[in-house]
Amino acid sequence: MADDPRSATARAHSNIAFVKYWGNRDYRLRLPVSSSISMNLADLHTTTTVAWDDNQEQDTLTINGATAADSALERVRNHLDVLRARFQSRRHARVCSTNNFPMGTGIASSASAFAALTMAASAALGLKLSERELSILARMGSGSAARSIPSGYVEWHAGDSHETSFAETFAPSEHWKLIDVIAIVSRAHKRTSSSAGHETAGTSVLQPARISSAAERLRAMKSAIMRRDFEQFADVVEEDSNLMHAVMMTSDPPLLYWEPLSFAIMKAVRHWRTVENLQVCYTLDAGPNVHCICAANDAEAVVARLRTLSSELDILRSSVGCGAYILTPEG
Ligand code: DP6
Repeated sequence: MADDPRSATARAHSNIAFVKYWGNRDYRLRLPVSSSISMNLADLHTTTTVAWDDNQEQDTLTINGATAADSALERVRNHLDVLRARFQSRRHARVCSTNNFPMGTGIASSASAFAALTMAASAALGLKLSERELSILARMGSGSAARSIPSGYVEWHAGDSHETSFAETFAPSEHWKLIDVIAIVSRAHKRTSSSAGHETAGTSVLQPARISSAAERLRAMKSAIMRRDFEQFADVVEEDSNLMHAVMMTSDPPLLYWEPLSFAIMKAVRHWRTVENLQVCYTLDAGPNVHCICAANDAEAVVARLRTLSSELDILRSSVGCGAYILTPEG
């Protein structure tokens, strides 16, 4: 029946980039200036139910049980407009989303959120889209969401058009059991969102150098992951994070995400690796929290050392995760 609500629930994981996405060459389509590489985070996920309903006059959104009426709702509505256009639908939707990780920890939820939303919205209409198309559509909601559709270790091909900019798996999650130990340095909400930050990337004189050297880092990163070569992996992860933050710091206006404790952890991580022989390296997104990427055997030692740096640090940890998936198709 045409007025039956059609609903589906999907789950997607957050991801952490080892070769970062920073700056777009097309902002409407979110076509990035360079390709990026990430791993999905098994223990940090968003679960989203979408119910398309003929009787609904506008889209509604709840996040962790609370009604959203701000920029989050606007962003979801914009994405639903993209999906309505693709699905040739005029229905509005009720969207209910929950994160299993604490909100306001500065851990990005847009990647898992837009991947889960895209998958649930299409499944609710009974559509069976390819992984590639889901990744392309998720990208329109948030660039990094393209990488939360496929499983494990993922490359997002920058591409040169809407159809060619998508992410795919290049190694499954079982390939290398890395752990992300996340030191929550600050719970404060980001002053500058990633979306706003991408727009200023081109004002840094360093951005052209970052872009022109990205392909080489991508190649070295894939090779390090395929060979499980932690030493090469660590060198490229840290170089890429430092380069992105160098661009951020030299943009107009400058984006200064590091806090003193972030910097202390970065220096300590290098010491633990180069002097104490732990397999650990650091990377930071658009915020002060430090992702310590470790070999599984060294994760406990890294957590213990982080606690000696600050007794007040909140610490999250995650292994490598699968791709987005449907929990309950009811459509
Ligand atoms: C620093 O995907 O959050 O985490 O496309 O505007 O939603 P929007 O940006 P977003 O940017 C992520 C930037 C980053 C690096 C990365 O994940 O590659």
